[in-house]
Amino acid sequence: MTASRLVLPDFPWDKLAPYKARAGQHPDGIVDLSVGTPVDPTPELIQRALAAAADAPGYPQTYGTPALREAVAAWFARRRGVPALDPDGVLPTVGSKELVAWLPTLLGLGPGDVVMHPQVAYPTYDVGARLAGATPLAADGTLQVGPAAGTVKLVWLNSPGNPTGKVLGVEHLRKTVEWARSIGAVVASDECYAELGWDGVEVPSILDPEVCGGSHEGLLAVYSTSKQSNLAGYRAAFVAGDPVLVRRILEIRKHAGMIVPWPVQEALRVALGDDEHVAQQRERYARRRELMREWLVAEGFKIDHSEAGLYFWATRDEPCWDTVSDLAARGVLVTPGDFYGPSGARHVRVALTVSDESVAKLARRTAGPDGSPGSTGGNLR
Ligand SMILES: Cc1ncc(COP(=O)(O)O)c(C=O)c1O
Repeated sequence: MTASRLVLPDFPWDKLAPYKARAGQHPDGIVDLSVGTPVDPTPELIQRALAAAADAPGYPQTYGTPALREAVAAWFARRRGVPALDPDGVLPTVGSKELVAWLPTLLGLGPGDVVMHPQVAYPTYDVGARLAGATPLAADGTLQVGPAAGTVKLVWLNSPGNPTGKVLGVEHLRKTVEWARSIGAVVASDECYAELGWDGVEVPSILDPEVCGGSHEGLLAVYSTSKQSNLAGYRAAFVAGDPVLVRRILEIRKHAGMIVPWPVQEALRVALGDDEHVAQQRERYARRRELMREWLVAEGFKIDHSEAGLYFWATRDEPCWDTVSDLAARGVLVTPGDFYGPSGARHVRVALTVSDESVAKLARRTAGPDGSPGSTGGNLR
């Protein structure tokens, strides 16, 4: 038997474990701002939808029910400025992480093909390229691609970005679509924080007619309700766009049994039809975000981008592990920016996905004027 030649990156979170242990020794408990997992309850309305669909003896449709696919199209029209999404171009996925990890494979990419992704990025774009045997390329602009352009087959965009919170505007998206079309590459845009723009920031979709000229050919938007609806535990997400690409992906997923359970399809359908719970969740995050922003500024951080999504991308212009170590000594855990690529080495990612109680604790963890740990102070209440 030959050994597998698949080389995956080290699982980075293991490196953070000693700092987590250190922060956990704080007498008032750890304030964990590292992992972006939702902490507020799943809205009742969605829990009820799941329960109402609990009687599910038969196999569900891999394609999703027509009602679900229509609900996705209606959501795009209502919330994302995409009036004419064809429900045939919608496919539910088991959370969006699996789609991100398997899309290059599902598109038939392999050795010799290049998968481009943002320079500071959610690590699964790179993993997905490797799973397919393709080559990942971290690049933000077409100029950085150079002679590889002829082999780029998939371009990942992520707006709002994880970890940076950066939003790509219509112009940037349009240019990327034009370039990708000129070289015959697919554009997949991971937009899972799109409903979480702050201070009036608008988040355009790759499927917006102003971006794509009204044609969804060669384009896929990847979306998840994990964050906006506190549904990470349900694994409720979808991909939408070019019906030809979606059918190709569907064929393989049918063969491979990559099916969203029917009760989750129902929960997803109901979640997408209700804007109220999303507005309430946004309010919660907006409140916490303001308090955390004050704390970061009091701590001497500069905040870059972060205009949308669930993270602050912050720097004290020092190596990220120094920042992680200093905050861990005061019982606060953040994520080092180099988890997201070498360009993140002087930043940390600070997640908003914490309880009000944890946010209140931050106030008591501001360094003293001499930088001594554990002093009280700052302007947080
Ligand atoms: C940019 C991005 N894409 C995809 C995901 C995966 O989300 P899920 O699998 O819960 O849909 C995450 C999760 O944090 C993310 O940050």
